[in-house]
Amino acid sequence: MSNSSPGQSGAGDSGEQSWPEYLTGAESRGAAAAAEGSVPPEGRAAPHRVIGTPAPAAARTLLADAGDAGDSGEKPVREMPAGPPDPIRAKKAERIVVACFLLAMLAGFGFLVAYGTIGVGTITKTLHSNLALGATLSLVFLLLGIGAVIWVRHLMPEVELTEQRHPMRSTPQEREAFKGTFEEGAETSQFVKRPMVRRSLIAATLPLAVAPIFLLRDLGPLPGTSLDTTAWRKGLRLLVYGTGRPITPAEFSSPGAIVSVGPEGFLNDDDAMAKAAVIIIKFRPGQLQFTSANHAVANKVVENWTVNDIVAYSKICTHVGCPAALYEQTTHHILCPCHQSTFDATQGARVIFGPATRPLPQLPIGVDSEGFLIATSDFHEPVGPSFWERS
Ligand code: FES
Repeated sequence: MSNSSPGQSGAGDSGEQSWPEYLTGAESRGAAAAAEGSVPPEGRAAPHRVIGTPAPAAARTLLADAGDAGDSGEKPVREMPAGPPDPIRAKKAERIVVACFLLAMLAGFGFLVAYGTIGVGTITKTLHSNLALGATLSLVFLLLGIGAVIWVRHLMPEVELTEQRHPMRSTPQEREAFKGTFEEGAETSQFVKRPMVRRSLIAATLPLAVAPIFLLRDLGPLPGTSLDTTAWRKGLRLLVYGTGRPITPAEFSSPGAIVSVGPEGFLNDDDAMAKAAVIIIKFRPGQLQFTSANHAVANKVVENWTVNDIVAYSKICTHVGCPAALYEQTTHHILCPCHQSTFDATQGARVIFGPATRPLPQLPIGVDSEGFLIATSDFHEPVGPSFWERS
């Protein structure tokens, strides 16, 4: 008499019995045992029937067993049907999918048009722009999603697959089988067979591919040579920032004083002032130490750029452009508060500390016929951050 459990081989058992077979065998053996007056063996209780448990899905695999094709060299038998079961319903679904993708394309173009035509100069315009951009972009993704769902549900065949675990490393046969399965899947997806669906999907995504190019517009126009020059021109008066008054050397006579000035006619122009802001500093006679020969910038002509020991420097820090207007009277240092670049005002504003790599540009100044301080030219070098490494 065997005392093995289901799935175990024992005397008289093949080890291949299914539960019904096992049950039948157990019952007959139990009946025989009863007839013989013997006790049924331990561990031989009949299995309970579980009500409501669904039948397990048929074990199928996307990757054919390597042994299937390995020896014979034959192509594995395809597992999935090539097309949907109902061609009429599929045709209808195809039309809906194409319509979704084409509408998505139109919505994409709508996004581009809205971006190009609705300005953002005012709060109302910005609201309208955001509404139009958000609505059109949402439509694009919504229609793409709907089209994709209908495609999958109604154009692809519905097959239940159970993928068994495999070792991570694939064999050449498995790779070959995967290739075949991939091609089979591509065919099943109808992507190749239905060019209208394919093309409309590609068309639907085209505006999205182009959209980033339009977004580059937000970076503004190319600067061109605008960073090389400022609003300063020969003859423009230096106006005190805040009051807008011109200033004479006599009014600015106390050594150690510093005043922020801007070019006449541009004080209220923020764009112009972003580059043209200047500080003027009054020194005692003999305090200014730079000449053409010893200037921090080689061969820079500076002798005639000052008036009565008043010197004018760009206020825009050459590191990353903060206003450098903190002035230490005793040391004659100009300090930029952002990253502590320090410039020596007596030596052509050369850098003595900090991350800036070149001196503050100097503005050539003189006086006009009425005795007011004026610029005698624009700066002779670009102001602001040294992005071109002009150290
Ligand atoms: Fe002046 Fe950085 S911006 S030190």
